[in-house]
Amino acid sequence: MHVLGIETSCDETSVAIVKDGRYVLSNIIASSRDLFALSGGVIPEEAARQQVECFLPVLDTCLEQSGLSWDSIDAIAVTKGPGLLGSLLVGTVSARTLGALRKKPVLGIHHTLGHLSSAWLVPPGEEAEPIAFPLLTLSASGGHSDLWLRESHTRSTLLGKTRDDAAGEAFDKGANLLGLPYPGGPSLAKAAEGGDENAFSFPLPFQGEPHLDFSFSGLKTSLKYTLRDALASGKNLPDILPDLSASYQLAICKHLSDRVERAITQHPEVHEVQVVGGVSANKRLRSLLQERLGSVCVRAPRAIAYCTDNAAMIAGAAYFLVQERGESPYICWETESSLPLSAEAL
Ligand code: KG4
Ligand code: ZN
Repeated sequence: MHVLGIETSCDETSVAIVKDGRYVLSNIIASSRDLFALSGGVIPEEAARQQVECFLPVLDTCLEQSGLSWDSIDAIAVTKGPGLLGSLLVGTVSARTLGALRKKPVLGIHHTLGHLSSAWLVPPGEEAEPIAFPLLTLSASGGHSDLWLRESHTRSTLLGKTRDDAAGEAFDKGANLLGLPYPGGPSLAKAAEGGDENAFSFPLPFQGEPHLDFSFSGLKTSLKYTLRDALASGKNLPDILPDLSASYQLAICKHLSDRVERAITQHPEVHEVQVVGGVSANKRLRSLLQERLGSVCVRAPRAIAYCTDNAAMIAGAAYFLVQERGESPYICWETESSLPLSAEAL
């Protein structure tokens, strides 16, 4: 089954073609993030305009690169929410139009469910590994930080979620405090290179508490005061930037790993831990999770492009939903900027 995926929920315009939920034939992503480097965040109106500009060239490139014609496409899958409404509508209206023109079913997919399918995507030329449920997924992006216990693609239990900021937000807001450009995750990780991650200490949220929720707003406040105190004591920001970035990055990664480790002790039946979403691109997070979990297999998406927003994960999620539940629950849908994942078939 070939699914053409479309993802336009924020500042990335992406179209992909994925075979049988896993094999990526092409995954084209145009990003308008450079436009927002100076504004410190996405300007919704501008992001939607960029989606309109980028959509058709991205679609054409995707089809060309896959080597397939429309005849070989079995379904179209599009992110229906959550996200910026203007950006989402570019994708959903385009998907419905293409579906009507090409006579293909159009499935509406929850953005986070896309991330939850991203660790199984296989880049062109690589082999797929078997899928082993039950597993634990840490899904950490700019919009959410969730821990899921998953029995199958469509049967999952939410074990924990953030009580305030998302992990990606902690990177973005922290980077902003340090004068680093948006998006904060990659720029903070870069600033941290060569820094001493033990130079500054930050509190570990919920240390010793049995629940599996996250909280990042205290870390951000702590960074603000640590920076203020360091500058007041006569230090220069450029001198302390690598150490401060590395220490703050470690604090976020420790909190995420601490909750995952606790979840594993509560659910020893899981075969592996997956980490997905934009924050899963972070190398320190991946290495710390593996250090902390020892012999448990830790799996992250195989390409950085599958961590951050991309259409291949939307096509992958659609395939697994159809396999387990059939097409009908996903054919009738609306575009929604706020959409809890619990509303999905999970
Ligand atoms: O999944 P995603 O592309 O979009 C959302 O669904 O939100 O995640 C974007 C988030 C941003 O907050 C960005 O700063 C963060 O992922 N991110 C990273 C890295 N790359 C992206 N955070 C830490 N380290 C990275 N290398
Ligand atoms: Zn995302």
